[in-house]
Amino acid sequence: MMKKVTLSLFACVAILLSAAADEGMWLPSLIGSRIKDMRRKGFRLTAEDIYSVNKASMKDAVVLFGGGCTGEFVSAEGLLLTNHHCGYGSIQSLSSVERDYLTHGFWAQSRAGELPVPGLSVRILVRMEDVTERVAAGEKPAEIAKAASEEGHAADVQPMYYGNQYFLFVYDVFRDVRLVGAPPSSVGKFGGDTDNWVWPRHTGDFSVFRVYAGEDNRPADYSKANRPYRPKRHFPISVKGVDEGDFTMIYGFPGNTQEYVTSDAVEYVAEVSDPMKIELRTQRLDIISAAQAEDPAVRIQYASKHASIANAWKKWQGEVLGLRRLGTADKKRAYEKRFAAWAASKPEYAGLLDSIRTAYDAAKPEYYVYELYTESVGAIEAVRFASQLTARRSRMKEGEDFASAAREMRESFMKDYSPKIDRAIARKMLGEFLDRMPADRVPAELTAAVAECGGASEYVDRLYDNTTLTAESFDPAKIDDDPMVRFVAMFSPLRKRIAESAYRNLSNIPSVERWYRPFVRAMMEWDRDRAFFPDANLTLRVAYGSVAGYEYADGEYHRPVSTLEGVMEKDNPEIYDYDVPQRLRDIHAAKDYGRWGCEIAGRVSVPVCFLATNHTSGGNSGSPVINGRGELVGINFDRTWRSTMSDMEFDPSICRNISVDIRYVLFTIDKVGGASYLLDEMDLRR
Ligand code: ARG
Ligand code: ASP
Repeated sequence: MMKKVTLSLFACVAILLSAAADEGMWLPSLIGSRIKDMRRKGFRLTAEDIYSVNKASMKDAVVLFGGGCTGEFVSAEGLLLTNHHCGYGSIQSLSSVERDYLTHGFWAQSRAGELPVPGLSVRILVRMEDVTERVAAGEKPAEIAKAASEEGHAADVQPMYYGNQYFLFVYDVFRDVRLVGAPPSSVGKFGGDTDNWVWPRHTGDFSVFRVYAGEDNRPADYSKANRPYRPKRHFPISVKGVDEGDFTMIYGFPGNTQEYVTSDAVEYVAEVSDPMKIELRTQRLDIISAAQAEDPAVRIQYASKHASIANAWKKWQGEVLGLRRLGTADKKRAYEKRFAAWAASKPEYAGLLDSIRTAYDAAKPEYYVYELYTESVGAIEAVRFASQLTARRSRMKEGEDFASAAREMRESFMKDYSPKIDRAIARKMLGEFLDRMPADRVPAELTAAVAECGGASEYVDRLYDNTTLTAESFDPAKIDDDPMVRFVAMFSPLRKRIAESAYRNLSNIPSVERWYRPFVRAMMEWDRDRAFFPDANLTLRVAYGSVAGYEYADGEYHRPVSTLEGVMEKDNPEIYDYDVPQRLRDIHAAKDYGRWGCEIAGRVSVPVCFLATNHTSGGNSGSPVINGRGELVGINFDRTWRSTMSDMEFDPSICRNISVDIRYVLFTIDKVGGASYLLDEMDLRR
């Protein structure tokens, strides 16, 4: 309180300026351009320490985990940390009713007890290289990648700034990755969907893996004879902890941002796309939640589906709120006006904004069809299953037996499927599709069939009454006669168009994207003071900032650290999301914190999570949070929901990423998991 009042005007200005620069996800090989700013904010190392081709650097300690998360090495023997929600699928796949690792957690207790996860791989960046000139000289990106991958690596070439630059990324792909440990979900997913995207947060969102390699320390298929991989670099761990104001750096793989799109695109997202998707998902979630409340078996069966539907649903709500609150579309409109005035005298740029607008006007209805289909009819489980079956059949190779493949697919589909829930969702979703879709895009056959039945719900009932895909009488030889398969087939032309357009987001629609390339180039030429960084595209990035709370509204200040006291305050055995494990209750009651206890805000407790100003996005989950000395202080796992507009506009005053404090990770391994042997191979620093 006193501190706030005595802040001088100068200090206020300094804070604002430095905060404003926390925006950005920088390419590691170009981090030299930011290093002065980073050092001013508390980074003590060099650009070479972050990324180097010639010697081991931090980048050798960071991995792309699975298809869309980040992980980091914390020992010389390939020990890897990531989030619990990133390891979730692996942990689930290794679990059974008798060995339920999701519920009870898992600790290998020895190397021999570590569990291989079939299908799981991690990628380590070997090097990245600017290949813009080679592409400009006529080489195809795919050919450049192919040539690089022939050296026994995986490689791809990614455009930056809409193709104003191209970078080659060369990776080692390790395919023998084993589960070492996971806390029970009552720690790793504590707070569940209720607390997801929310601060204050008390989730121990971490899991532990180990990467294995062949005798030569190179990637190898799973073999009992493989050895722990010896990474070139691993992170030392600071057990000193973090304080407000401390420098933080996030090193990881953010997936997708759209910072340079025009006002029209922002308006479409905030006023058309997100609201439509939110409304449709609200309906699906309501149906699932009601069924879950009625039947505990359904609660478990649909837990993971509910979580993934709710995750984006909540994120979009924050995005809409944030974009409106910031007035992003209006601000961009004003910016575009100034740009247009500058560009007016430059023939190569003068018409760009008009071209983008015209391209959007043409593309938007098409894009909306894609989004609406995906979120309505495409979200029906039986529809997805029917499509998977026919897709599988069209991929059959000589000698393969479709019937047994289909039966296997059916078995795994039915495991977590409620025909009752899906029917209720299908009635709503088909209704919404028909209401919202322009009439000329609704398959004529469907219109006729619905009319014949007397309405969408009646039509859906008939589908579900007659389909055999989900029935005991399922016959793989007769799927073409099945009403559900025929229903899906009605959408084939629409699906084909969608597949061909390969949309990822509003700015990569090809007809629009071609204009973004000169537009971004022109912006860079014009707006000299702006620090441009390429949009996230699941390539390795560095984001830096500091541990910081935030004041969302007048008087609504959020302190940046949470503690075990907050976990216990939420404890409620009646509420699934807040049912603290008994072991943790006992530890808390006895204050048996060992070396992990410390004084925070006047109480002796264990630190749990903290907030920082790093610019992150989906894919940054599991990313190492690194202090000024290059030591690991946390694992990133979330943002606040009111931050999520940062994918389009980063607001330094309220955008915060959420990390689990590394001391809570170590405390949980040591005290809750009883796996302190893992700490022995880590490099803990005071
Ligand atoms: N919101 C985080 C992210 O986008 C975490 C999601 C997993 N947690 C959950 N309770 N659903 O991935
Ligand atoms: N939870 C996200 C992830 O899984 C991170 C974020 O969107 O902030 O990558």
